[in-house]
Amino acid sequence: MRSVISIAPGKSILFGEHAVVYGFPAIAMAISVNSECRINEIEENKIKIILYNYDQVFEANNIKTLSQKFSSKYNQISECFYNFQKDYGVQIENVEIKIISNLFPSAGLGSSASIAVSLINALNCYYELNLKKEEINSLAYELEKIVHGSPSGIDNTICTFGNAIYFENGKFDYVKIPQEFLFLITYTNIEHNTKEAINRIRHLKEINSKQTEQFLKQIGKITKKAKVELTRNNIQEIGKLMNLNQKYLSNLQVSNEQISEIINISLKNGAFGSKLTGAGLGGCVITLGKRKDLEKISSILKAKGYKSFIAKNDKLGVICEKK
Ligand code: PMV
Repeated sequence: MRSVISIAPGKSILFGEHAVVYGFPAIAMAISVNSECRINEIEENKIKIILYNYDQVFEANNIKTLSQKFSSKYNQISECFYNFQKDYGVQIENVEIKIISNLFPSAGLGSSASIAVSLINALNCYYELNLKKEEINSLAYELEKIVHGSPSGIDNTICTFGNAIYFENGKFDYVKIPQEFLFLITYTNIEHNTKEAINRIRHLKEINSKQTEQFLKQIGKITKKAKVELTRNNIQEIGKLMNLNQKYLSNLQVSNEQISEIINISLKNGAFGSKLTGAGLGGCVITLGKRKDLEKISSILKAKGYKSFIAKNDKLGVICEKK
C-alpha cells in the first residue's frame, strides 16, 4: 500500500508589513512550524478526507460527491482535486488524505498557503507527477486566490521554497540567511483581520497623509537595512531593527494592548527584538532571542494565557517522504 507525507512550512513577516502595500519592501521568512498532508492508499473504493484541525471527516466514492459534502470553507481543497484531475489526468480514488496544520489559523502565519502547498505536493508525490516547485507554487497561488481574493503571492512562495524573501513591487528576491536563528511566535488569542488593518492605515493616510507617508517610508528604510543585517547574521542588530519597525507600526495604529504586553514582557526578559508579524490588530508577535530567554518568556506568556512556540527559520520549503 502506497503512502506519502508532505510537509510545508508556515511563514512570518519579519519586516515591512503594511509598507509593502505602498510599494516599499518587505521580508518574509519560512518557519519550522508547518502543515502536513498524508496520503495513504486504502482498499475500499472511496476517498476519505480527514481535516484534523477542524475535527471533520468526509467520505465519498468520487470527487464530485465529496466536494458537494464540503462547506464553502473548504473550496480550496475541492478546487485542488479538480485541478489535478483536469490538468494532470489523475484519478483520485482509493485514498485517505489527512491534513494537519500546526499553525494558528487566521494569525498571519500563512496557514492556508501552507496547507495548500502541502496538499499539492502530496498529490504530486503520490501520483509521481514530478512537478517542479515553480509549478507547485503557481498551483498554490491559484488556491490562495480562492481564500484571499488577490494575495501578493508571498505566502505560497515562502511555503513552497522555504528560506526568506525580500519582496518589492511584486518581485521576489531570496535573502540568504547564513545560520539558523531562533524566535518565539506568540498568538495574541485574537484572529487578525488583514482587510481591517489595511483600511485603518488607508484612513490614516487620508486624514494625515504627510506623517503616515513618513512612517511608511521609515519602515521601508528599516527593511532595507534588515536585509543586509540578515545576510550578516547580525542577530542583535536585527532585533534593534525589529523594535524600530514595531514603533512605526504602533504609530500607524495596527498594534494593540495584547501585542504591546507580549512585546514588553519579551524585551524585559532579554529578547533582542520583538514586533507584530503580519497585519496586526491581533494575530501573532515574533520575538528574537537566545533559547533560554525565549523559554523563560514563553512560560511567562503562557501563565498569562497566551499560546507560543519556539521556532527557527526553515530552509527546505515543502518536502515529501514516500513510504
Ligand atoms: O497578516 P498577513 O500575513 O495576511 O499579512 C498581511 C501583510 C500586509 O502587508 C498587511 C498586507 C499584504 O498584502 O502584504
